[in-house]
Amino acid sequence: MNDKKTDITATIVKLLEGEGFSPRAVEYYLKQINVGRIKEPSASFVFTGPCGDTVEIYLLIKGEVIEDAKFITTGCSASFCSGSALTEILKGKTLKEAEEIEGEDILKHLGGSFPAQKVHCVHLVKRVLEEALAQYRKKHSKRVDPK
Ligand code: FES
Repeated sequence: MNDKKTDITATIVKLLEGEGFSPRAVEYYLKQINVGRIKEPSASFVFTGPCGDTVEIYLLIKGEVIEDAKFITTGCSASFCSGSALTEILKGKTLKEAEEIEGEDILKHLGGSFPAQKVHCVHLVKRVLEEALAQYRKKHSKRVDPK
């Protein structure tokens, strides 16, 4: 049984590397880093992209700092490793720093090598973050009394 699992994992690794995924992207995909939900998140957002896949993001924010980040995706291997990379990048970042994260930062974190036809999955994950942060800002913006 374990030999069979090892064979399947080796096959998946070979396929992903053959498609152009970096070793770190493959590792994130296999280990499912930060996949899951945060029970009482400070911010969250669910979005279905044009490819038909849905990504959910959950953030735990204390003051201006993101203390924890998790995600779930119904999407492909690229969305899994992008979600893992993004949530790893987010931990310890201020809201402002999080708002400045670009798709390039996610790709760089993943080690640079990434299939060109899967870059849209990186942008899908980033879009979900942007919406979660925008909603959080809106909810927590101080209302100025127009007196
Ligand atoms: Fe939809 Fe990758 S194809 S998330």
